[in-house]
Amino acid sequence: MGEKLKIGVLGSGSGSNAQSIIDAIEAGALDAEVVCVLTDVEDARILERAATHGIPGRFISAAPFKTKLDGAAETEYIRVLQAHGATCVVLAGFMRIVKPAMLKAFPQRVLNIHPALLPAFPGMASWKQALEYGTRVAGCTVHFVDEGTDTGPIIVQRCVPVEPGDTPETLHARIQIEEHLAYPEALRLLAAGRLNVVGRRVEVREGEVSSGQ
Ligand code: GRF
Repeated sequence: MGEKLKIGVLGSGSGSNAQSIIDAIEAGALDAEVVCVLTDVEDARILERAATHGIPGRFISAAPFKTKLDGAAETEYIRVLQAHGATCVVLAGFMRIVKPAMLKAFPQRVLNIHPALLPAFPGMASWKQALEYGTRVAGCTVHFVDEGTDTGPIIVQRCVPVEPGDTPETLHARIQIEEHLAYPEALRLLAAGRLNVVGRRVEVREGEVSSGQ
């Protein structure tokens, strides 16, 4: 077995996915360490969650851009991640598109979670897109990040039913329950060295039965 997976989390909001990863580690269900939590939103709740668990957290402005992480800001994110010894970057509600320099610094080690069953409904508020489209199932996807938007090789997907009377809020809440299982599961596979990217497909090598639900 290689070295323990050292995770740098990037998030812009509540951080419930970061919390699920921290909880899985603390419960002994994921052999990894969260080495830092970085955010582009100064008062993001994700920073409080990090502090509660004694994890270094830091706001790094990504100005002047609104939706991408580029230029000097990207260089600073990479520098801080490397200074904390991160070997893997977990995007957990990070509202910016990461650019090639980040992917080059962490090759096949940048993961994202998307609240839809990709390749359906990439982009923003995808649970609303699914509801408006009228799909009967919705879900979430954990994938490796590549140079496209929500296009990288898929690691784990989990689905939920769309119920009569669902609002965007109730559907997103149901999807988030599955997200909190999907991200630790994907990271368990990565930490165990069981993921092999072949073209755009991820092959999962046989291994011990997962300790997740
Ligand atoms: C999640 O729904 C995730 O799929 C999307 O942004 C949301 C982040 O939620 N990328 P949280 O900050 O982890 O609670």
